[in-house]
Amino acid sequence: MAMGSILGPEPRTDRVEGGARSTDIRIGADLLRHLWAAVRSRFPEAAACGLAVDEHVASLHPLPRPPADLEVLAVRLPRGEAAKTRTVLSTLQDAWLPLRRDEPVIAIGGGAALDVAGFAAATVRRGLPWIAVPTTVVAMADASVGGKTAVNHERGKNLLGTFHPPTLVLSDVATLATLEVGERVAGLAEVYKAARIGEAGLLEVLRAGAPATPAAWIDVLQRAIAIKARLVEADERDHGVRRVLNYGHTVGHALERTLGLRHGEAVAIGMDVAARIALARGLMTAGERDQQRRDLLGLGLPVDVPAGGLGPAFEAALGLDKKRIAGTDFVFVLPVGSHGVRVVDDVQAAEIAAALA
Ligand SMILES: NC(=O)c1ccc[n+]([C@@H]2O[C@H](COP(=O)([O-])OP(=O)(O)OC[C@H]3O[C@@H](n4cnc5c(N)ncnc54)[C@H](O)[C@@H]3O)[C@@H](O)[C@H]2O)c1
Repeated sequence: MAMGSILGPEPRTDRVEGGARSTDIRIGADLLRHLWAAVRSRFPEAAACGLAVDEHVASLHPLPRPPADLEVLAVRLPRGEAAKTRTVLSTLQDAWLPLRRDEPVIAIGGGAALDVAGFAAATVRRGLPWIAVPTTVVAMADASVGGKTAVNHERGKNLLGTFHPPTLVLSDVATLATLEVGERVAGLAEVYKAARIGEAGLLEVLRAGAPATPAAWIDVLQRAIAIKARLVEADERDHGVRRVLNYGHTVGHALERTLGLRHGEAVAIGMDVAARIALARGLMTAGERDQQRRDLLGLGLPVDVPAGGLGPAFEAALGLDKKRIAGTDFVFVLPVGSHGVRVVDDVQAAEIAAALA
């Protein structure tokens, strides 16, 4: 075996500065094996810690044995989105109440596991430090960066939550090997979105196709993380420049809700709809829009709304039904030229309808 494959690719690091609540981000292969060393070096005084693991991830990636002098208050989370409930939240809060305020909790899994465990960490004793160990592309590129935590409510997704950034993120790209291909591909939509917003160089890399090696994943994810990290630093509470991260999401959210598409698939289609609007407004050329379509298709992502997908439920989810009557404008993130985006707040219902026609 060559030295490179024994040692694995070099881990990369980033940091999101957020005053008292900064996040160190470490991305590499095989980091999970060194989880307890990372916990110990960060929290040498801790006698206990909390642990929340997506049960499916736990079955695929067993953790090494914790140190004998660290009591682990562990909770297995229902798989995926099913974990983002108030019931699971209170189970975590109950389990972690014995922790001191300087003892951390660790969340392992996709964005759902991170969202609920991060929210629980934020509320126990007014905020325990937490370590995010994302195991999906979405969670590495997006959910672990920026400090948003949440659970769902009967009335909608992510309606209950707070900002509570993790102290440390350990993104182990080796865990992506067990992720369903569809999940991996959908996650690349968020990476592409970040590239389109912030880095022409990353767009070029993605044009060569989806990452195929741990080193390639580390490179691509680290670049996407850096783009989001800089936006979060500039706008921690999501009132300003951070809004560009909603590229593809206005239409994407409505498609996700009504057609049951994966989030990333819906965002990819949403990015093409936004590009059509941008094209009609003269913000990009037909060639530039075609390039984005080729890029997304090249990554295995969809770009067209599935046949029959634009019924009344979709219009209601987008608010098209009400806003068409009220004449209210829509906020959209539109692509500009060959890379870069712009937030506009005056998109008319008729423009969206034309883009979807
Ligand atoms: N807080 C934020 O800023 C933010 C950003 C983006 C998304 N989110 C949230 O994240 C959630 C979506 O996250 P997600 O796409 O990671 O999905 P997820 O957490 O629902 O996980 C998707 C599926 O993948 C499985 N899985 C996870 N890691 C695996 C692995 N390594 N191998 C095999 N299977 C694995 C899970 O068990 C689940 O079945 C949504 O709830 C969304 O609202 C939050």
